[in-house]
Amino acid sequence: MSRRKQIYEGKAKILFEGPEPGTLVQYFKDDTTAFNAQKKEVLNGKGVLNNRISEHFMINLEKIGIPTHFIKRINMREQLIKKVEIVPLEVICRNVAAGSICKMLGLEEGSDLPRSIIEFCYKKDELGDPLVSEEHIAAFNWATADEVDDMRAMTLRINDFLCGMFAAIGIRLIDFKVEFGRRTDENGDFQLLLADEISPDSCRLWDIETNKKLDKDRFRQDLGGVTEAYEEVAIRLGILKKETTSSAPTLSIVPNGDKSS
Ligand code: TMP
Ligand code: ASP
Repeated sequence: MSRRKQIYEGKAKILFEGPEPGTLVQYFKDDTTAFNAQKKEVLNGKGVLNNRISEHFMINLEKIGIPTHFIKRINMREQLIKKVEIVPLEVICRNVAAGSICKMLGLEEGSDLPRSIIEFCYKKDELGDPLVSEEHIAAFNWATADEVDDMRAMTLRINDFLCGMFAAIGIRLIDFKVEFGRRTDENGDFQLLLADEISPDSCRLWDIETNKKLDKDRFRQDLGGVTEAYEEVAIRLGILKKETTSSAPTLSIVPNGDKSS
């Protein structure tokens, strides 16, 4: 691991001071938690997979005009990112009922929602990241009305893009969570950027044919095969290659054009 100065340690990632002002290094751990870290395990290789999968989405989202914090992947576990002030909200987008919305509204898991639904949760582990309204967001000054509009619009755009990308590889995007950050760019202009990560830790992904879960619900629900499911997502995305030439199949990361892995 890097010997750079540590800025922050979260449940699945560590942030270090970056090489240039205004940058950070985001390190992906193998630590896996659920239910506000009441359930905890180290899953070997998960951080490597999430680093690579999140890089893939961030690069492709930038291409369709979503500004992100991502600058480049440095190595198997680290990314160089823009330093932002994280908006203290988790933005969730749901296409199909699963998880907390089933509990809250008495819906059956897997039932279609009338349309994609955006939710805002206040980022506060001690409170279990509660669902909040725009009234709360405005009253407590967590984000401005313009920021809320921008986060909603960007999240819906991300949803459209990811739904298409996943459908092409036989996966249904059930729901996902994103986070945003603020920064002032080199010209002094204010920016709202997609931050954090997008990976099977922060999405629900089901195989289109079989409904097999390919995400962190395998860990939350003790279904087993967590890392194998993340690997399957990476293989289908073309990020990871299964070598079948030897008698024991091995996995290798597909290079993405930079020489730093
Ligand atoms: P939920 O149904 O538990 O509210 O989760 C909705 C989505 O958000 C799901 O894709 C998992 C993701 N999520 C996170 O990324 N972090 C969290 O802490 C929680 C609770 C959910
Ligand atoms: N990320 C949260 C935790 O660790 C919850 C979850 O993903 O289920 O505790």
